[in-house]
Amino acid sequence: MTAARPVRPGDVISFNRLRSREHPRGTYGMSRRIVVAGGAGHIGRRLAAVLLDRGDDVIVLSRHPERATRSGPIPGRLERWSTDDPSGLARILDGADAVVGVTGVPVGPLPWTRRRRTMIRASRLVPTRAIVDAIRLLPPARRPRVLVSVSGTDGYEGQDQLAATEATPTGHGFLADLGRDWEAAAGNAEDLGVRVAITRIGYVLSPDATTMRLFALPFRLGLGGPLGSGRQWFSWVHIEDVLGLLMLAIDDPRHRGPINAVSPEPARAADVAAAIGAALHRPSWLPMPAALIRLIMRESSILALGSRRIVPAGALALGYRFRWTDLRAAMADVLRPGDQRVRASRSVR
Ligand SMILES: NC(=O)c1ccc[n+]([C@@H]2O[C@H](COP(=O)([O-])OP(=O)(O)OC[C@H]3O[C@@H](n4cnc5c(N)ncnc54)[C@H](OP(=O)(O)O)[C@@H]3O)[C@@H](O)[C@H]2O)c1
Repeated sequence: MTAARPVRPGDVISFNRLRSREHPRGTYGMSRRIVVAGGAGHIGRRLAAVLLDRGDDVIVLSRHPERATRSGPIPGRLERWSTDDPSGLARILDGADAVVGVTGVPVGPLPWTRRRRTMIRASRLVPTRAIVDAIRLLPPARRPRVLVSVSGTDGYEGQDQLAATEATPTGHGFLADLGRDWEAAAGNAEDLGVRVAITRIGYVLSPDATTMRLFALPFRLGLGGPLGSGRQWFSWVHIEDVLGLLMLAIDDPRHRGPINAVSPEPARAADVAAAIGAALHRPSWLPMPAALIRLIMRESSILALGSRRIVPAGALALGYRFRWTDLRAAMADVLRPGDQRVRASRSVR
């Protein structure tokens, strides 16, 4: 049997390429067993679908499988897991080729009360530690070759002058500190002989993301406009490229450590507003005052008003070619009215 072909520099890795239309099942040779923790969530479910499409054997881990299937069928084999049971998890990971961690309750838009902060941290750190503990229980030859862990881009908040790359030191704050701790927790798997690839995901443009719908709502009502001054940078990324970059993390042995999953063209908030307005054919000139956003979101208003100017230097160096680099085109794609593809993605197998 031939080994699955890893992604190579120059490969066009896009969601479309990974869908069965262009790369039917078996294109990648031997099927690999890939475990997706949090695979019933927004990103995980879509990742599981494209992995399955290319012929991988996908195991989706959920704490509540019954609840997970209520929002639509889950691509792959759904398994219950508990972060309190490293031995049970080790049995699932035994002999797997890759494990991907995409867990975490949403960070916005609700204010970060003490309770929410605890949940936000725990839902990322506890599962990641559980995965590493489970890997430790396995003999080296039975361990996954790679642990892919997602992370955020909040450590770059405040970047305005020069666009941040993976080499830019990250700052401090609730989410920045969480990102650092989360990546460190995943990084412990390196000591166990497992390659660790971190995908730092920016603001995801996706047809069925809750934040996207919230963002678009005032525009649909004819009341849309930039958040605050509109001068802050937004490092956006289309969901198809998030999936492409997660596949890169799984496949490419050169991918170690963090990679920024953001489009090569960050935009200012005013341009984001204009792109939403253009996509929906609605006005986009009515700014939402920063004071009002702060009043509603409190400290979490940094998600809307903070500035993140980030480029995907690492992904480009590995030869990843982005499918979506034009903000207006990407926004028009995800906000398409009566989108057939959204329905299709909601009912993946
Ligand atoms: N979507 C974005 O725009 C974006 C951008 C940057 C970073 N990210 C990060 O990517 C990750 C996934 O995002 P998403 O949008 O796919 O989130 P999502 O739809 O809310 O899914 C997250 C999954 O995490 C699992 N989970 C939650 N709390 C958990 C806990 N305490 N222990 C174990 N599993 C837990 C849940 O699975 P079960 O309930 O089925 O167990 C849930 O399905 C998050 O960490 C998020 O911060 C997302």
